[in-house]
Amino acid sequence: MAFFTHLTRRSLAQSAAMANAIKNVTVIGSGLMGAGIAQVAAQTGHSVTMVDIDPVAVGKAEKRIADSISRVAKKKFGEGDEATKFVSESLSRLRTSTDAVASVESADLVVEAIVENLKTKKELFSKLDNAAPAHTIFASNTSSIPIAKIAEATNRLDRFGGLHFFNPVPVMKLLEVIKTSETSQATADAITAWGKAMGKAIVHCKDTPGFIVNRVFVPYLLSCIRLLDEEVATRADIDLAIKLGLEYPMGPLELLDYLGIDTIYNICKEWREAYPDMPEFQIPPLLERMISEGRFGKKIGKGFYDYKDQVVFG
Ligand code: CAA
Ligand code: NAD
Repeated sequence: MAFFTHLTRRSLAQSAAMANAIKNVTVIGSGLMGAGIAQVAAQTGHSVTMVDIDPVAVGKAEKRIADSISRVAKKKFGEGDEATKFVSESLSRLRTSTDAVASVESADLVVEAIVENLKTKKELFSKLDNAAPAHTIFASNTSSIPIAKIAEATNRLDRFGGLHFFNPVPVMKLLEVIKTSETSQATADAITAWGKAMGKAIVHCKDTPGFIVNRVFVPYLLSCIRLLDEEVATRADIDLAIKLGLEYPMGPLELLDYLGIDTIYNICKEWREAYPDMPEFQIPPLLERMISEGRFGKKIGKGFYDYKDQVVFG
């Protein structure tokens, strides 16, 4: 008993030390997810560098972050000085860059949130592996790609894990932490402790298709696209039915527009490659048509619905 108490005390102390160890965070990708992750990391006291290959995307992300931090501040502190201080201190911890390699030189943790494409992610991590210090932990926010397949591009399999956040990151409380068969326990403990420091509720998961949530959630979304394609009901009635019938905050088609139709499509494509025998991830023809018509969702102003005046990346 004393032995176990001793071990528990030691592992708690180690976890606390590791949480403290992650101070400098580099987030690669400044799209919907990268901007959200960078924002919450800055809000929770980390020194953050947010990187994107596209300087225009960085500028747009900075604007979205400023708007979102103001909403968070208003909710936490109302309108007074405390809210202003929270916003200015959070923003002062956030830097931006278009140079991924230079941005990892003093990183304790790199969280990748770029386009959902295995080849692109591997190319990025292979470059970062040569530039980052030995202690730096790498994590991917991929929705669908096996973490071990991305980690193959590096020589730090023990310091590589999955950190799957949910959209919108400043609001959604959950974080899935994924440990591959090669991820060390020290790395898993460190990213878990960091996730807690980010204010998230943590669940642990093996490196399996869609982890926990997307394994259930993406097939549900695809079923709703098929309902529309089969003209079972109008888009508005499908959304209203699910929203009120299941008490969900958004209808599935509205939510698909919010998440990014291109991202959902890429998730399905990556799944088809990695797990060809799983029928639940087959791409509905309507989703293919939406991609060919460039209907990528709210972020570009058109998806299942039109959002001329509310383009997220505008
Ligand atoms: N930043 C900061 N705060 C925000 C915010 C943002 N971007 N968006 C919403 N909020 C907060 C605000 O504080 C707001 O409170 P106030 O009214 O005080 O400002 C509160 O949330 C409610 O926001 P809204 O009134 O604008 O709208 P809403 O009530 O419809 O909530 C929503 C918006 C949070 C997005 C909600 O509709 C929702 O939860 N939708 C479902 C999202 C979801 O299912 N996400 C998971 C997707 S799966 C995934 O991410 C994984 C994957 O790999 C694909
Ligand atoms: P997004 O399209 O909004 O943003 C992707 C960003 O990555 C773009 O700004 C792009 O310029 C940048 N990028 C592309 N290649 C790059 C490179 N080599 N180096 C640096 N930047 C690069 O995508 P998103 O919705 O933020 O998704 C990002 C990741 O998060 C994907 O892996 C996705 O599956 C995952 N994810 C998405 C959601 C969601 O709801 N959208 C939820 C959870 C996880």
